[in-house]
Amino acid sequence: MNVVILAAGMGKRMQSALPKVLHPLAGKPLLQHVIDTARRLSPSKLCVIYGHGGAAVPEMVGKLALDGAAGTNTAIDTALQQPQLGTGHAVMQAVPQLDEDAPTLVLYGDVPLTTEQSLRSLVEAAGNDKLGILTVEQANPFGLGRIVRENGRIVRIVEEKDASDLERAIREINSGIMCIPTRHLKRWLAALSNNNAQGEYYLTDIVAQAVSEGVEVVSASPMAEWEVAGVNSKVQLAELERRHQLNIATALLEKGVTLMDPARIDVRGELICGRDVVIDVGCVFEGRVELADGVTVGPHCVLVNAKVAAGANIKPFCHIEDALVGPKSQIGPYARLRPGTELGEDVHVGNFVEIKNSQVAAHSKANHLAYVGDATVGSRVNIGAGTITCNYDGANKFRTVIEDDAFIGSDSQLVAPVTVGKGATLGAGTTLTKDAPAGKLTISRPKQMTLDGWTRPVKVKK
Ligand code: UD1
Ligand code: CA
Repeated sequence: MNVVILAAGMGKRMQSALPKVLHPLAGKPLLQHVIDTARRLSPSKLCVIYGHGGAAVPEMVGKLALDGAAGTNTAIDTALQQPQLGTGHAVMQAVPQLDEDAPTLVLYGDVPLTTEQSLRSLVEAAGNDKLGILTVEQANPFGLGRIVRENGRIVRIVEEKDASDLERAIREINSGIMCIPTRHLKRWLAALSNNNAQGEYYLTDIVAQAVSEGVEVVSASPMAEWEVAGVNSKVQLAELERRHQLNIATALLEKGVTLMDPARIDVRGELICGRDVVIDVGCVFEGRVELADGVTVGPHCVLVNAKVAAGANIKPFCHIEDALVGPKSQIGPYARLRPGTELGEDVHVGNFVEIKNSQVAAHSKANHLAYVGDATVGSRVNIGAGTITCNYDGANKFRTVIEDDAFIGSDSQLVAPVTVGKGATLGAGTTLTKDAPAGKLTISRPKQMTLDGWTRPVKVKK
């Protein structure tokens, strides 16, 4: 099968410098949703028609073609349509690249949520020699092409602007998605005229041609209207975003995840959950996030490419990125785990604690106001409030090692590279510039003194 994705339109109503099909839905460009779905159909040819937006669209497509993230490695071709003279003219640009012996599925780059299942049912209905159209009955068909039937058979498509009053009353609309026998396509496109209300070469006019040549025209329908909804404005983009998020939330609920409110979760990537996971409101998940059995995520957390092991509890307002959280750990509220953080079992990270590029082993705690960067922290370590690893001298970064059972007194600075030995204790307020020996108390603090006879200054009267 060939797939042609139309993405040359300009999307004026988006009011944006970014080409319409590059606007993100669930963190991924609209066009990428369509390409990912198309790739799951394993087409032999995949061609994106671009126009407005200059090189941005082919650049994005080029990156996708390289990483093959969707699992298949279908090459993606692009073809420039300049100027844009209509949907028929757009498909013409792809014709030289198409495999004549296989049907051609036409998709729109701004219709992101069509399911693989619906496309398969259309392709199946069309087979090798029929023209298939994905149609849907719409309560408000305004602005869309209407499917004109005679005795139940499709005879043509008429655009809103060309339609008679009677035709405008038809509620079955053309989604724009079609599956076309390629060997007829070239001829049909060549015969198109732009003698219509918009002066465009309408792809939809091939339907009447097929009928006149005796090629059967069939239809298939998606499960839901949103599958064929296009994005022309920020309002429609926002509506489809919510619809998509609700679909994801429903799938999570069906797998047994507890969502405190399925309308208040945003998954911009892949969220994989074990059993008995509970997610409170307002959380955002980006990239690939894994929550193991029994994980609880409190309200308003952001998790990006993170893995949270079984039984861990992420309290409200945490930001976790490129990090691993160990089993039964307690994170937050208000904790930040930055890239390279790896926490062992039952680690406690409290409010206003930032951890970066550090390993923290089992049962260790940093409960309040600390910065732990480029550190290796052993087991059962207690990092007191206000502790800072001074990992950066303005030019280079250095590691801090804190061995098992160490106790770091509050408000200490560990000037890396430095090691705190096993079981060592640092007195509060220590600025550690040399290694602290194991098992001993190390303290750097001017001796406390009290001045006798000192009196407070008093305000001088003028
Ligand atoms: C088209 C259909 C209409 C259908 C509707 C569904 C035609 C003539 N009409 O309407 O029956 O109900 O889609 O949304 O086909 N594009 C190009 N190059 C062009 C023109 C369009 O690449 O020269 C792309 C657009 O970027 C968009 C898609 O084709 O992705 C549809 O274009 P749009 O203008 O939104 O659709 P209509 O022509 O209004
Ligand atoms: Ca449109």
